[in-house]
Amino acid sequence: MKIFDYPETKIIGKNTIIRKLEHRDLDKSLEWLKDPLVNKFLSQDFATLDKRQEDDWYRFMQKSKNDLAFAIETINGYYIGNCALHKINWFRKCAEFGIVIGEKDYWDKGHGSEAVSMVMVYAADKLKLRRIILNVYEYNKRAIRVYSKCGFKLVKVLEEDHYYNRKYWDTYIMEYRSRR
Ligand SMILES: CC(C)(COP(=O)(O)OP(=O)(O)OC[C@H]1O[C@@H](n2cnc3c(N)ncnc32)[C@H](O)[C@@H]1OP(=O)(O)O)[C@@H](O)C(=O)NCCC(=O)NCCS
Repeated sequence: MKIFDYPETKIIGKNTIIRKLEHRDLDKSLEWLKDPLVNKFLSQDFATLDKRQEDDWYRFMQKSKNDLAFAIETINGYYIGNCALHKINWFRKCAEFGIVIGEKDYWDKGHGSEAVSMVMVYAADKLKLRRIILNVYEYNKRAIRVYSKCGFKLVKVLEEDHYYNRKYWDTYIMEYRSRR
């Protein structure tokens, strides 16, 4: 039994739904993580990830008392991505956040911004977290825009931290502080 839990039902926004990530989501999820056009933005290289490793990860997430993984759907119930709160520290009331909208046709339609905002409200109101941290590469302008719009602030730059496409890029650490 977790000391915290997922929302009892779906969290329904204007155009976006957040719900618990289910085992049935994993095939689609694996496809997204291995897509180089998606993968280049993520903090881990998932190119060689296989079904068994993904299953292990899912089992770990189910058991973990410090991680919550969500699926992102359009308002019509079409599954387009995932997001998660990781390494939740209940004493310090902080966590890390990650998001991927894997269905590229659904980029730039507002779902990412809505999903981030909804999870931040859930983290603050229900989980009572005060600080959420994330990493984003300097070339991920879309994500930086979304996080800034949702109230994240740049707190640190790790210069030339990430190697991609024969170049070193900065990693930005961004932070969301709950005002509740
Ligand atoms: C990053 C991601 C979550 C954003 O979600 P999304 O639904 O595509 O984003 P939204 O439609 O909510 O908002 C996109 C914003 O970025 C802006 N944008 C898009 N491309 C941009 C660019 N090249 N430069 C600056 N801003 C850009 C859009 O105009 C929009 O801002 P606006 O609402 O002020 O007009 C999603 O695209 C994604 O998962 N990408 C691949 C994986 C990834 O990058 N994950 C995050 C890792 S840190």
